[in-house]
Amino acid sequence: MNDNEQMGFLYKLFDTSLPRLGPRDDRSTRKALDMLLSERSKRVDEPGTGKLRILDIGCGNGAQTIQLAKHIDGTILAVDNHQPYLNELQRRAEAEGVSDKIQPSLKDMCDLGLPEGSFDLVWSEGALYVMGFREGLVICHFLPAPDGFLAASELCWLRPDPPAECQQFFANEYPAMVDIVTNLSIIESSGYKVVGHFTLPESAWWESYYHPLEDRLQSFRKKYATVQK
Ligand SMILES: C[S@@+](CC[C@H](N)C(=O)[O-])C[C@H]1O[C@@H](n2cnc3c(N)ncnc32)[C@H](O)[C@@H]1O
Repeated sequence: MNDNEQMGFLYKLFDTSLPRLGPRDDRSTRKALDMLLSERSKRVDEPGTGKLRILDIGCGNGAQTIQLAKHIDGTILAVDNHQPYLNELQRRAEAEGVSDKIQPSLKDMCDLGLPEGSFDLVWSEGALYVMGFREGLVICHFLPAPDGFLAASELCWLRPDPPAECQQFFANEYPAMVDIVTNLSIIESSGYKVVGHFTLPESAWWESYYHPLEDRLQSFRKKYATVQK
């Protein structure tokens, strides 16, 4: 199977109808948003007066975009490089009555072409890794306004002795994965000051990410049983 065919399978598996495209949950999105808004209220003289400008990088079908839109007074530029995800985001935003706050935009996150300091919040759930976590942080560093913030989730090792099978799997799939302490130092050395961090609950992986994917994988295995790797 060539790269194009592999991407085709990936998009079929990670279909727009999945509730979300990465491990996350609404409560964690809110928790991170509240953390940053609280910090912002300490720094900005009149935080209530300006509308927030948010950039959501790698928004996918928009589970977090819609959560953010529901809880902020402002606008969100939601960027992804797969138009069907953006179409689904638009559909969901209309259904939830927040489409006036969201502008879906087909862009490559590596080449955003956006003006310096143009966002109060730069958001990226499960997507900065596409550029490489450190590279993504560096590339995005110019985007938040001087009193702005960046929020990102990143896959981390949570224990020093992961099972051998996991080590083997991630040695192939994401060899750049490091632990939390190392990621915190990567963040600081990329020019950011850490406001806070937390680990997603296990349920954020299982309930609306792995379980729906498991269901799809079963039908996929049957449908494409004869396709060569
Ligand atoms: C793991 S998904 C996360 C999506 C969403 N943030 C969520 O948590 O449900 C990563 C997203 O990044 C997008 N993506 C991958 N490469 C990209 C690129 N070069 N530019 C923009 N988006 C990209 C994918 O289409 C996908 O929607």
